[in-house]
Amino acid sequence: MITIRKLSKKYGSLKVLDELDLDIKTGETLVILGRSGMGKSVLLKHIIGITKPDAGMIDVDGAKIAELSGPNLYNAIHNMGMLFQGAALFDSMTVGENTAFFLREHMQLPEEEIQQKVSEALKMVGLEGTENKMPSDLSGGMRKRAGLARLIVYRPSILLYDEPTTGLDPITSMQINDLIVKTQRELKATSIVVTHDILSALCVGDRLALIRDGKIAYISEPETFMKIDDPIIEFLRKTISQDPSRIKEMKPRV
Ligand SMILES: Nc1ncnc2c1ncn2[C@@H]1O[C@H](COP(=O)(O)OP(=O)(O)OP(=O)(O)O)[C@@H](O)[C@H]1O
Ligand SMILES: [Mg+2]
Repeated sequence: MITIRKLSKKYGSLKVLDELDLDIKTGETLVILGRSGMGKSVLLKHIIGITKPDAGMIDVDGAKIAELSGPNLYNAIHNMGMLFQGAALFDSMTVGENTAFFLREHMQLPEEEIQQKVSEALKMVGLEGTENKMPSDLSGGMRKRAGLARLIVYRPSILLYDEPTTGLDPITSMQINDLIVKTQRELKATSIVVTHDILSALCVGDRLALIRDGKIAYISEPETFMKIDDPIIEFLRKTISQDPSRIKEMKPRV
């Protein structure tokens, strides 16, 4: 579904991506882990085409994303959706208007149908009846869920999530994890989830990858990934073993 070859990006003298290779399979949920500043958000922005690489190739379903712009890029990415780090709702629009935003952009639908889809999407994320609230009236977790509603409402086939659970309490994180899994199943979507949260990664990921020094250092199924002999993965193992109550609550697959 997504093939990335020798993707390189520098900001000034800072090499963020350095000939990075990555393959993402149709229908899988790939989790990308990595320390802050390692280029996780930059990688997602390349996949969706809003950042251009210095070199390298990104193929999404046959479209060469890095070479496209304007309407051609728009056509290539119209079935992708991204939940940005911080959920970025439009503050001057109601939750309902926010949720309808991409639907109105992507499809010509009668208003009644838009309203129905919006209310279904809000229900799916547990925010039914909040159409007329303003984003400033929502808590952090509710904003994330509203961001998710805005994404799933037009049923994209590729979903990119940037830190969907960061800064949320464990219960809300768990709800977001469940939503990611549910959305993936319901839309049969291909998903990429960027996170610092190893428990969340284990709840949603079919495969886990670690990004380091501009490259994918490791990528494998969760069980194999967690056994890799590496200081960072050792640290992740320790994080989990120190948090038994959360493990029980969150039901990771490994
Ligand atoms: N538009 C930009 N201009 C200059 N530098 C940038 C730009 N975007 C990202 N960077 C730099 O690239 C590096 C990687 O940034 P990125 O946002 O991808 O990190 P990240 O892995 O997502 O980190 P975090 O986990 O904190 O979100 C950082 O050093 C960042 O400062
Ligand atoms: Mg980031």
